[in-house]
Amino acid sequence: MITVHDLRAWKAEGRRFTMLTAYDFPTSQILDRAGVPILLVGDSVGNNVLGYEDTLPVTMEEMLHHTRAVARGAERAMVVGDLPFLSYQVSLEEGVRNAGRLVKEGGAHAVKLEGPHLDLVHRLVEIGIPVMAHVGLTPQSVHAMGGYRVQGRGEAAQRVAEEAEQLEKAGAFAIVLEAMPAELAAEITRSLQIPTIGIGAGPSCDAQVLVINDLLGLNDRVPRLSKKYADLREVISEAVRRFVREVDEGSFPDAEHSYE
Ligand code: KIV
Repeated sequence: MITVHDLRAWKAEGRRFTMLTAYDFPTSQILDRAGVPILLVGDSVGNNVLGYEDTLPVTMEEMLHHTRAVARGAERAMVVGDLPFLSYQVSLEEGVRNAGRLVKEGGAHAVKLEGPHLDLVHRLVEIGIPVMAHVGLTPQSVHAMGGYRVQGRGEAAQRVAEEAEQLEKAGAFAIVLEAMPAELAAEITRSLQIPTIGIGAGPSCDAQVLVINDLLGLNDRVPRLSKKYADLREVISEAVRRFVREVDEGSFPDAEHSYE
C-alpha cells in the first residue's frame, strides 16, 4: 500500500506522481488497478455527483458514505478523505472528531482540509492522522474569494507561500496548490520538503490532481485548470440510445440474452 513514506521518498528522488478524485467503488477499483497512487474522496462529490451548486452543502455523512465506497475498492492506493465545509472550522475538538470519523468509520488513510488551520493540522498529526493541506483557490471559501478565481497574484503571492510553509511546519505530509500562477507554485515546490500536488498550478509541482469526472468527460463543462481525456458523456448517451432503439424495434432481448 502507498504510504506517506513513499510520497516523501518520491519527492526526494524527484519522481512525479498523480492523484485523482474518486467517489464510488467501481471507479476506485479502476483507478487503483491503473496504478494511481492517491485517491482523493473530494468534497467535489457535491458538484460532480450529488448535483449541488458547489461544495458547501456537503455533509460529514455524505463524505463518510462515499469514502467507505472508495476505501472498499482500493487495494494499493492511499485513500484521502476531504473534510467538508464546517466540519473543522468551528472548533479544534470538532475538527479532530470529524477527521477521526473519516479514518475510523470511512476507512481513509489520511484527511485533507483547506486553508491554514495550523493548530488542527498539528493536533491531527500528533494523534496519528496524516493531513494533506490545500492552499490557493480553496473552494469552501468561494464566496469570500468572489468566485473561483486564480489566487496568489502580485502581493498575495507572499501570503500563499507563507501559508504553505506554515502548513509544512505544522506537519502536513503533502499540499494541494490550486489555481495559482505557475511561477508561484514552482517556488513553493522548490522551497518545501513535502510534495506539492497541483491543479491549475503549472507543470513544476511534484504531482498533479484532476477531478475524475472532468478527465472522463462526464461533466458538461470542463474548467480551464482541468482536462478532458475521454468523452464518457457521449459514450453513455450512445449506449443508452442503442438500448432504447433495440427495445423499440424488438431486437433486444434476443435468444442469446433469454432463458429457454
Ligand atoms: O474536492 C476536490 O476534488 C479537491 C481537488 C480539486 C483537489 O479538493
